[in-house]
Amino acid sequence: MKSLPPNRIYRGDCKLILKDLIQEGIKADLIYLDPPFNSNRVYNMIFNGGGLSAQQKAFHDMWNFTERARQLTFEFTKTIDQLNDIPTSFKEFIKAWVKILEAGSTEDRKLLNYLMYMTERLVLMKRFLAPRGTIMLHCDPTASHYIKVIMDGIFGNFINEIIWYYPNASRGKKMLAKSHDVILWYSNDKIFNFNRDDILVPYESGMTEWRYTKGGQAGKDMPKGKTPDDIIKIPSINPMSKERRGYETQKPQELLEFLVKMACPNNGLVVDPFCGCGTTIAAAIVLKRNWIGVDISGDAVNEICDRIGEMKDIHLRDNCKFNVIESNPETKREYNRLNPFEKQDWLIRKINGFPNPRKSGDSGVDGEKTIHLGGDQWGKMIFSVKTGKQSSPVLIRELRGTMAQEKAEMGGLILDVEPSKEMEEKARAAGILNYKLKTSSGIAEQSFERIQILTSQEIIDGKYFIHPPTLAQKKQEQRHSGNLL
Ligand SMILES: C[S@@+](CC[C@H](N)C(=O)[O-])C[C@H]1O[C@@H](n2cnc3c(N)ncnc32)[C@H](O)[C@@H]1O
Repeated sequence: MKSLPPNRIYRGDCKLILKDLIQEGIKADLIYLDPPFNSNRVYNMIFNGGGLSAQQKAFHDMWNFTERARQLTFEFTKTIDQLNDIPTSFKEFIKAWVKILEAGSTEDRKLLNYLMYMTERLVLMKRFLAPRGTIMLHCDPTASHYIKVIMDGIFGNFINEIIWYYPNASRGKKMLAKSHDVILWYSNDKIFNFNRDDILVPYESGMTEWRYTKGGQAGKDMPKGKTPDDIIKIPSINPMSKERRGYETQKPQELLEFLVKMACPNNGLVVDPFCGCGTTIAAAIVLKRNWIGVDISGDAVNEICDRIGEMKDIHLRDNCKFNVIESNPETKREYNRLNPFEKQDWLIRKINGFPNPRKSGDSGVDGEKTIHLGGDQWGKMIFSVKTGKQSSPVLIRELRGTMAQEKAEMGGLILDVEPSKEMEEKARAAGILNYKLKTSSGIAEQSFERIQILTSQEIIDGKYFIHPPTLAQKKQEQRHSGNLL
């Protein structure tokens, strides 16, 4: 195998990471992406037995057209003009689309947010493709028609619309079962990698013979098989499947193995910029391709590390070696270059919380995470980020008020500056949360300060808030103990 870049897992927004990889001169032979869709579904780990509350779902409603989304869209339409590798007609089309959707309904603006989010990342992916490289975008039929227009404009060479058909879809009585996803396959050029010989399927009985004699090629080798259809039938991962890792959006490894085998050369590089629990990576490992995976969620990265660790097959060992790389910013200087919204998002994600997309500024909740309170009880920890010079004991009082309002058991305050002694005292005065932990040797009790303060510098240095296990941690813990949730 060519020693391309070492296999890597990045934790961070693929937008930033793609820029770094392009700068490094790395090129992908196959990009497969399965990004979050344009819906309110929750794409992070779902805890079996109840799922998430309506409030948490609202929290994840990531396509709301917030002030930040408006600002990003505005900046993007300005920069798109400077991109030389995008046709002018497409630039004009995008600008017109922005104008129409922005003036439309709330739903239109959500769609705009989603489309801009995808467009700015796809533009980077175009530059990241190797000369014969291809890109596959996996989405559901609610998004595919919009994405196809964008991909036509950016990549130009449409190869196939691959239908992943899962006959085990759930069935209602009011309409046909929704039993397929769409994988849009594109390249920059007419010449692209297609390992046809590796994916041939047998002819139906009788067919081979007919071709064989009609062509008058008696004596030649029998054809090895035919080119497969663009419809791939593989069941989706069911709740009892051994492959299942608790990710609602996890795709079957068999599907990814087919795609990687078909489109990535033997010594090539596969990149998944939204890699979730690492299905593409697992496929690349099995097929001995080089790989890079990116995910914004720390839980996803931990999950992938576990998954690779479990691929114990000795002959795969070499390809299981990898580095985990935390995304920017690594220094306070880089951090200071972010705008306040970006700072807020980055800090919350870095501590493995979920950012609040509402960014209303008045609720005081910038992020949250779900924490275990013992038994089947769950609670939450909320976070408030105060960037710049903000620091005063009043902030602790406000956080206590917000915790009461939001019924949160714990609160984390993040400051850009050091907290005063008085603030620390006021935080301690909020008291302790006791957590009982069942261990093999009985019940252990742990206590956590209900209000904790961290500075952005401490977070950059890798410090975390200390709290009872989160949903994702509990799930991982239970899987390790062999008790699948
Ligand atoms: C639909 S899931 C991918 C599932 C994956 N195909 C699998 O089989 O596990 C989308 C993933 O994208 C991640 N994500 C969302 N926004 C991201 C971003 N800006 N950069 C990188 N990853 C992101 C989410 O954390 C989630 O794990």
